[in-house]
Amino acid sequence: MKVMETSRRPLLAANWKMHKTAAEAEGFINRFRQNVADVKGMDVVVCAPFTALHRLAAPLGEGFLQLGAQNMHWEKEGPFTGEISAPMLKEAGVRYVLIGHSERRMHFAETVEMTARKLTAASHFGLQPVLCIGENDKQRQDGRTEAVLREQLLGALDGLAGKDKGEAGLVIAYEPVWAIGTGTPARGEDAAIAASYIRSLLRQTLGEAAAEVRILYGGSVGPENITDFTGRPDIDGALVGGSSIKDEVFAELVKAVSSSRGRG
Ligand code: PGA
Repeated sequence: MKVMETSRRPLLAANWKMHKTAAEAEGFINRFRQNVADVKGMDVVVCAPFTALHRLAAPLGEGFLQLGAQNMHWEKEGPFTGEISAPMLKEAGVRYVLIGHSERRMHFAETVEMTARKLTAASHFGLQPVLCIGENDKQRQDGRTEAVLREQLLGALDGLAGKDKGEAGLVIAYEPVWAIGTGTPARGEDAAIAASYIRSLLRQTLGEAAAEVRILYGGSVGPENITDFTGRPDIDGALVGGSSIKDEVFAELVKAVSSSRGRG
């Protein structure tokens, strides 16, 4: 069977979560940049805490290293104490933004409707959304993985106006909640099945543009398993938490993806 050609560049995204002061973040990036200076043919995004964004805008943002944020509010401005808007992120030099990470859904009661609003705002203000979706352990046990992916994905895409749907530079991260931070990743073949299901849902809503959307796997990704995920036809990279905290470990992941990027 002929494998369809795609222009999707592999993408590796670091999610630092609530780690690193601005000074620590800068130290990481300075060492990391040197370490990956020879890497080609992929994108690397570092999703840093808000307080480190300005400091990283200059060293990131050129070439294949890009700056990302971990969350945003859907309004442009207003009485939302403690929140940060898309224009604020844009001005800080941010290009990508995580939306609907399971920790936001779990600890901050983020709903599908909120992710839809955030997706609309991100696309309106020219940020590339990385929409995180995935089932928890109970949902998996109950055989509801596909139903959850469907609800979270189609519910969030609802927020995009027709013309934006293909142009948002959308990235989807499939992150089974039970695999996040547990040291127990999904099996490569199961992640691949979920990714191809996600692509089939995207095809229903976006048509041909679905072939351009990058799908990442996330959940206990490390140097020992990364290529088991990124070697799969519908998986275009990974969203990495714990293994992105140390610059030398994250650099190892980047190099592994860049040297194995030939798709099977
Ligand atoms: P983990 O986190 O790599 O530590 O499992 C992934 C994530 O939460 O995005």
